[in-house]
Amino acid sequence: MYENWEQLKSDCLSCTACELSITRTKLVFGTGSEQAKVLFVGEGPGANEDLQGEPFVGRAGQLLDKYLAAVDLDRKTNVYIANMVKCRPPQNRDPLPQEQEQCIRWLREQTRLLRPKIIVCLGRISAMRLISPDFKVTKQHGEFIEKNGVLMMGTFHPAALLRNPTQKPQALEDFLALRDKINEVCPETYDMR
Ligand code: URA
Ligand code: SF4
Repeated sequence: MYENWEQLKSDCLSCTACELSITRTKLVFGTGSEQAKVLFVGEGPGANEDLQGEPFVGRAGQLLDKYLAAVDLDRKTNVYIANMVKCRPPQNRDPLPQEQEQCIRWLREQTRLLRPKIIVCLGRISAMRLISPDFKVTKQHGEFIEKNGVLMMGTFHPAALLRNPTQKPQALEDFLALRDKINEVCPETYDMR
């Protein structure tokens, strides 16, 4: 259990608990406001993230930033963004169950310090792990369910939207629903910009 972000981050940055530590360039801890009440959880770093040590900085990340901006959210000031695994899986393969199992402790600690009101899962990897093992993004995107006092929602992964742009309007609906939910449960989010 960690009392502060500094200690958590410094321990995480030296993690070698799974084999992804061998091939990583930079570990991607997460970014955003440590006061945020809204936490976004992606899958894992890609090539750009691995080089820069920041989540969602490639093409998918630029698309994510547009959806955030559409509902007055911003990665630096009023949300926090992290991933299921902190180190890049080679060739961008899905993180293995045992890698997620090792890495989830860091996300747990991040969640404990943040105490978010809302967690948004970006894509099936985080939604299956954090919401339900049989989560289907195409069927259940945009639905809020409460789990241990936190509202959880899954939506399309921005990389999936780049491959499949016909889903973009549905993704925007999810972000609009998110804005409504924020106004309901943590309106202070919109005073943090
Ligand atoms: N895809 C993810 O899931 N996370 C990132 O940080 C970048 C791309
Ligand atoms: Fe540690 Fe997670 Fe990186 Fe594996 S992916 S080495 S568990 S930080």
